[in-house]
Amino acid sequence: MSTAPLQGIKVVDFTNVQSGPSCTQLLAWLGAEVIKIEEPGRGDPTRKELQFNPDCPSYYFLQLNSDKKSLSLDAARPDGKEILTRLLKNADIFIENLHPGAMDKLGFSWDVVHKLNPRCIYGSIKGFPVSSKYAHLKAYEPIAQVTGGAATTTGWWSGEHDGPTQSGAALGDSNTGMHMCIGLLAALALRDRTGEGTFVYQSMHNACLNLCRIKTRDQLTLDKIGYLTQYPQYPNEKFPDYVPRDGNIEGGGVLGWCYPCKGYPEDPNDFVYVILQRDHKSFELFCKGIGFEDWLENPDFNTADARDRHKQEIYRRVGEYCRTRSKFEVTGQLSQFGVPVAPVLNTREILTDETLYDGNTLVKINQPGYNDLVGEFVTVGVPFTISGYQPTYGPCPTLGGNNEEVLTSLGFTKQQQEEFAKNGTTHPLPDGKM
Ligand SMILES: CC(C)(COP(=O)(O)OP(=O)(O)OC[C@H]1O[C@@H](n2cnc3c(N)ncnc32)[C@H](O)[C@@H]1OP(=O)(O)O)[C@@H](O)C(=O)NCCC(=O)NCCS
Repeated sequence: MSTAPLQGIKVVDFTNVQSGPSCTQLLAWLGAEVIKIEEPGRGDPTRKELQFNPDCPSYYFLQLNSDKKSLSLDAARPDGKEILTRLLKNADIFIENLHPGAMDKLGFSWDVVHKLNPRCIYGSIKGFPVSSKYAHLKAYEPIAQVTGGAATTTGWWSGEHDGPTQSGAALGDSNTGMHMCIGLLAALALRDRTGEGTFVYQSMHNACLNLCRIKTRDQLTLDKIGYLTQYPQYPNEKFPDYVPRDGNIEGGGVLGWCYPCKGYPEDPNDFVYVILQRDHKSFELFCKGIGFEDWLENPDFNTADARDRHKQEIYRRVGEYCRTRSKFEVTGQLSQFGVPVAPVLNTREILTDETLYDGNTLVKINQPGYNDLVGEFVTVGVPFTISGYQPTYGPCPTLGGNNEEVLTSLGFTKQQQEEFAKNGTTHPLPDGKM
């Protein structure tokens, strides 16, 4: 018996770019059958975005669409609508991320699909919540980060690098896909009880804001007392009436900072993150580990509140210690004393770490075709493990690569399929013929 959690679940995936495809990627790896609808001749725009070779799909596409089936389909044409209708009659989940209003215009709104197949769950990704004054905006990653609280709170708060800063993590895109996935799985659980599909709406804004929850915590505190003890601005600088950018603080009440090590600046990533916890036992261990035993008796440092007030001196002293060692030496030494510490790892260090090739964390996929231009590539696998279930990781489909299989399964004859191809429903029309 298969232990794939979503075996038997059929997903009609009308999503492009990253937010939607990251969700359906996870659904596919959990065992669902994912049929990706792509515009004939064009496909998901990421196929041709940032290609390393013009003759094969980009890593952008490859990393988000493995183990899916591709049906190239113009859903604006009458026979395209018929094909999509047949597909939806049998689907467990329909998911889309077109611009606001586009799916209604194509004739496949929630109301329509729900009437067609009351069991089908409908997932819709947009930039903003329906009630938002920005609901009409198209959205990409930075749109979510600048409106969802991430960019305003990230980066430096003074000097030449003072400015809203985007996170390298896809808080707007893949994070939205993961949030949508939670919504869809909850809807599946609900359907088990009610027999009926529901409408799941996930905005990129809300997915980002959800990860900025602790910044809203800080706003509440700021409103009450006018300062934030964990911020580098405390106690010497004046706080604005909104949460300022915080450089590299830990975010909670513990004292953390990212320190340059001896290889910096030749190696721009020779940095280490060191945390000084609040409780006295951890403080003693920290002092022992780093050799600052004088701090144990010093009233500027031997209580957590005092350390908050003298954090600049702490940054200076710990900074000096780190500057004479590599990030790995600091990590090795301080971790022996239970200090939370870790090196800043660059992308090469992460992708070449053999211990991460554990079957889930980083995985290798072999992509056939394209004159072997792709071959083996690395991607991030299912980020959690489920006992008794080992996902397998297969290749990506070519554009329309599963047309025959999908259309045949829907009962369309060979002759009908040829018609679809000829009239542009499943294949691009030759230039000039509409
Ligand atoms: C990503 C985004 C900005 C792209 O906007 P866009 O360039 O207008 O592209 P879209 O894919 O939404 O739609 C373009 C058109 O193609 C049409 N289209 C797309 N796939 C189609 C298909 N298979 N068959 C027929 N028409 C199709 C759409 O209906 C739309 O037509 P319209 O403009 O006449 O309404 C927009 O889709 C969006 O804001 N999505 C919601 C948020 C999101 O997920 N963003 C992506 C983050 S990674």
